[in-house]
Amino acid sequence: MLKIVVMVSGGGTNLQAIIDGIKNGTVTNTELIGVISNNKGVKSLDRAAAAGVPGIVISPADYPTRDDFNKAMLDKLEELAPDLVVLAGFLVRIPEEMVKRFSNRIINIHPSLIPSFCGVGCYGLKVHEKALARGVKLTGATVHFVNEGMDEGPIIAQRGVAVEDGDTPEILQRRVMEQAEWVILPQAIDDIANDRIEVKDGHVVRKKGN
Ligand code: GRF
Repeated sequence: MLKIVVMVSGGGTNLQAIIDGIKNGTVTNTELIGVISNNKGVKSLDRAAAAGVPGIVISPADYPTRDDFNKAMLDKLEELAPDLVVLAGFLVRIPEEMVKRFSNRIINIHPSLIPSFCGVGCYGLKVHEKALARGVKLTGATVHFVNEGMDEGPIIAQRGVAVEDGDTPEILQRRVMEQAEWVILPQAIDDIANDRIEVKDGHVVRKKGN
C-alpha cells in the first residue's frame, strides 16, 4: 500500500481528483495519510476534512525564517513518513534538503507541456496567459518527479489539450484541469503505487510487462 501525502496551497481540485480516484477505485493500492497546506483556510483543507484525511497547515507566517519553515515542513514529512509526496497546486519552492531526502519520491503537476511555459514565476494562471500570448494551438499538463530544478525533473506523464479561439486564461485553465490534470495525476499515482514505472538514465520508463 503506497502511503501518500498531498501538499496544497489553494482550491485543491487536483487533491479532490486524487480523493475521488481512491474512492472510485481508479487509484489503487494507495492510502492518503495527510494533506499539508502552506495556507490557512483554503478549500483544500475542507476537501481533506470531508474525506476524513488529516489536514495540516505549515505556514511561513508562523516561522521567523524561511529555514525554520523549511525545517518544519521536512520534520512533518519525516513524522508522517509517506512513500510518495504529491505536490498538487503547491506554490512553495521545495528545499534541496527535502528533494534529497525524498529523491524520486516527490511528484508535481504542472499545467503545461513541459518544457514549455514553466520555470521560476510560471505557475497557475500565468502559465495559461503565456500559452495564449504565444498563440500555441496545443497545451496540456505534465506530471514529473521533482528534482533540484524548477519543473525540470523526469517527466512521468503528459496530456495535450486544444487551445480554442476566444479562450481566456480562466477558460483554458479549467479545460486543462478537466481534460488533463485531473486524469494524469491520479493515473501517475496509480502507476507508482503498482510499481509500473522507474527512472532510468534520467528518464521515466515503464517496467517490463506494464
Ligand atoms: C492547477 O492549475 C495546478 O496545475 C497548478 O495549480 C493550479 C491549482 O490547482 N499547480 P488546485 O485546484 O489547487 O489543485
